[in-house]
Amino acid sequence: MEKNQKPIGFFDSGVGGISVLREAVRLMPKESYVYFGDSKNAPYGTKTVEEVQELSFKATEFLLSKGVKALVVACNTATSAAIIKLRDKYKDIPIIGIEPALKPAVELNRPGKILIMATPMTLAEKKFNNLMKKYGNNSGQIRPLPCPGLVELIEDGVISGRRLEDYLRNRVAFYMQEDIAAVVLGCTHFPFIKGTLSGIIGKDIPIIDGSVGTVNQLKRLLEDENLLNLSKEDGSVTIYNSLNNDKINALGYELLKK
Ligand code: DGL
Repeated sequence: MEKNQKPIGFFDSGVGGISVLREAVRLMPKESYVYFGDSKNAPYGTKTVEEVQELSFKATEFLLSKGVKALVVACNTATSAAIIKLRDKYKDIPIIGIEPALKPAVELNRPGKILIMATPMTLAEKKFNNLMKKYGNNSGQIRPLPCPGLVELIEDGVISGRRLEDYLRNRVAFYMQEDIAAVVLGCTHFPFIKGTLSGIIGKDIPIIDGSVGTVNQLKRLLEDENLLNLSKEDGSVTIYNSLNNDKINALGYELLKK
């Protein structure tokens, strides 16, 4: 098989990275995709950095065994813990990561706080703290909002309804006493609960995630390396999951269509 016809690999701690995959399919339908969700080991955000690095290597090896031409770390947590090590080890393949989309949120220039919803690990890691410094957080405008337990809910297929509403209301209640300028979804699981969140904080507050930016960067990289699939037909999407049960497999394909 020609190199540019090979699939693009995506991985995440579970079904979250499908929010990035679906944007890739929209932007580059001629490409084929192989997705690996490590739901057996989710969540990553409460593990040690070393554990997440180890799991990221395993996921990468799995995708390489499927012959991928590029790799997307469709997980903010794995990106912050492992992307440097991955790029160091796998030099022959372009590797793209994802980070909380702070820049577009700051550039909106709206009054009030910018809430960054992410896993505890993403918010504690150096990568995020450097990012926060870059956008000058002296005024305390940027507020990290760790969301333990939310990945687990989404992995369980809870993407609407009372249980989710109660969780989100509790999380944002404190901030709702002040103005919220924007919310950044710094975890790839969270775009699936965007509608419910918007209903709680108010439809006029922008909710931003990094999936489109990441996928645009993926396309640029493939172009630069002459790796774009120029075929006339649409490509395929194959989703693997380390749990490999009917429920999680079905959830993966269902979320792809959301
Ligand atoms: N989707 C992952 C992320 O973007 C969730 C990490 C986790 O499993 O805690 O951070």
